Amino acid sequence: GIDMDFDTAVGSLFQPEGRIDPYPAYDVLRAHAAAFPGMENQWWVTSHALVSRLLRDPSLRVADKSDYDQFWPDWRDNRGVASVVLSMLQTNPPDHSRMRRAAAATFTARRVAAMRDVITAQVHELIDELPAETDFVSSFAYPLPIAVICALLGIPESERHWFRQRAADLTVVLEPISSEEEMSRADKAGRDLEDYFVGLVADRQRSPGDDLTSALVQAAGAEDAVLTGEELLANLVLLLVAGFETTTNLLGTGLQVLLDHPREADRLRSDAERAPAVVEEILRYDSPVQLTSRFTTTPLDLGDGKHLGTGTMLTMLLGSANRDPERYPDPHRFDPDRPNIQPVSFGGGAHYCLGAPLARLEAQVAFPLLLTRLPGLALAGEPVRRDRLVLRGYASLPITTGA
Ligand code: HEM
Repeated sequence: GIDMDFDTAVGSLFQPEGRIDPYPAYDVLRAHAAAFPGMENQWWVTSHALVSRLLRDPSLRVADKSDYDQFWPDWRDNRGVASVVLSMLQTNPPDHSRMRRAAAATFTARRVAAMRDVITAQVHELIDELPAETDFVSSFAYPLPIAVICALLGIPESERHWFRQRAADLTVVLEPISSEEEMSRADKAGRDLEDYFVGLVADRQRSPGDDLTSALVQAAGAEDAVLTGEELLANLVLLLVAGFETTTNLLGTGLQVLLDHPREADRLRSDAERAPAVVEEILRYDSPVQLTSRFTTTPLDLGDGKHLGTGTMLTMLLGSANRDPERYPDPHRFDPDRPNIQPVSFGGGAHYCLGAPLARLEAQVAFPLLLTRLPGLALAGEPVRRDRLVLRGYASLPITTGA
């Protein structure tokens, strides 16, 4: 039942306690309207149908460097911010199409599929090393994605620990509000990562390998200058950070959901073929990315007398869309057998997550192996949620391996 009023629901999304479980608030907002005005010149979008449609609407744009130039002329001084703003994530056509083509041509389905053995070996190694009592986030969910993305980019194993901290420091720039201290850590992380990638790029220019960095360097050096040096660095940083905490959160959330649904865990344990459906339902049930934003470039008519002016910001609540009862009956039930699970957790349209196949593969390999190798795996304490609004997941998840 709905026992929260509309203003309380909106307010709760801006408070750490409200973010622990935003789903009751989403229900209230979605019941209120598929789209409604929030702060000045900003609208919220809550329904699956409208979020999916607007993500694919070519008349909408993402905030890009021209916007940052206007409201924060010194943004380039914060290298954490700069690396994200200069990447494809915050770039519009025609530059976006060019960057995306260069990255997609190198980050291919074949390259991802070829990672299956690396991922499997890494999962086994992490399971072998798990202490009997441990925090699943720090001993599994963090190290797996970083090992995989480092292997993909050709970053040596000895550098992984160093990367992990920098990538974590940098992701605060994806949140709408961060403290000054967080911003200065993000700046430092951005500088360190840029310096590192300058060296790596120079090395791969001299002696190319078969890693993604070498492929991107070659694309960037092509005659039609597919990527500028600055763009190459920004997109390398993006590949590292975009695929890191998001996948960590998918793994942490997914394990918690499976432990909370032992029958589903048993079924997956005895039939690894269920993994793709289980992972899609985990993505729907508790999306690692809860929202993204777009801006109108022309007046936009949403129907029902809702006319939006040019320059209106649309906040798309992905986590709400995924729990829309019009699209997913009984939406708060975890059920991998639902037909046609297509969550908006990886976005949609031109910016659809480039790393989706890799993130899915990591989770599809990890969960069946964790369950079969550790049949006694269980929670061993209170899980602690992160209180972030955009990147949703656990800060810690105490487990016992049952060994
Ligand atoms: C974009 C989610 C893992 C690389 C996105 C977007 C979402 C998303 C929602 C679109 C943002 C928008 O439209 O505003 C996720 C989730 C992941 C994940 C939930 C894990 C569960 C990864 C991985 C990589 C990656 C593993 C790379 C190794 C990217 C890139 C973009 C992107 C490069 C920008 C694409 C563009 O702007 O054209 N991701 N992501 N992501 N993601 Fe992921």
